[in-house]
Amino acid sequence: MSHQRREVFAANWKMYKNGADAEKYIKEMRVLAKKNTQELIIFPPSIYLERAIAAAKGSNIGVGVQNVHWEHEGAYTGDISASMAAEAGCDYCLCGHSERRHYYSESAEMVTRKTHSALTKELIPVICVGETLMERENGDTLEVLYNDTKAAISGIEPNDKIIIAYEPVWAIGTGLSATPKDAQTAIAYIRNVVRELWGDIADRIRIIYGGSVNPGNIAELMACQDIDGALVGGASLDLNKFMSIINYQQ
Ligand code: PGA
Repeated sequence: MSHQRREVFAANWKMYKNGADAEKYIKEMRVLAKKNTQELIIFPPSIYLERAIAAAKGSNIGVGVQNVHWEHEGAYTGDISASMAAEAGCDYCLCGHSERRHYYSESAEMVTRKTHSALTKELIPVICVGETLMERENGDTLEVLYNDTKAAISGIEPNDKIIIAYEPVWAIGTGLSATPKDAQTAIAYIRNVVRELWGDIADRIRIIYGGSVNPGNIAELMACQDIDGALVGGASLDLNKFMSIINYQQ
């Protein structure tokens, strides 16, 4: 279906690929994706950001950082800041990916601070929210989505550039995708939470789905009214698969 909002397709490479593979992928993708009109983003491991940015320069592919610290500088061994990512040439920043929330105990407050920090450096935050399997089974999905979304954008000036990704934790990397109906329900709900806080700007904000997206399930997800694109992990590591996802309409 054609969406009223510009579609976004983002590749989250997590801790995969080496520098040469990252560069080769982007160089090949810029040729294949030349005519694509969607917003396209690659999130490489941060050590390859500059290489990825150089490979994407002048193309329609944007590059983002997978995580930042909320401070711009300080004694935080191993971390990088939004200022550093922006200086390197990034345009986007993932905030609150569930792997960060769960493996590194990132709290809602940290996610809020990271989102603020990204915005002050004009990085577009891609804020991830989603319920765990236990929360889902307990019937708490909507409450989690309400709290995560509210926490992430509270205190931010309404901004239609931010992107929200609904990523049910049980669907990430498991091969179990949310049904299009469930994903649509959750995303429409998130849009209403944004509307409650920010008013009608909610209709302009892109909300995308993530969790085992692949070339076989993308078309039916994109057929849903509120789903504006996808955040793709595993399937994005293979350029042909990622291109089939982006070109789901063909
Ligand atoms: P997946 O990961 O596509 O491998 O499920 C999605 C994500 O973590 O963003």
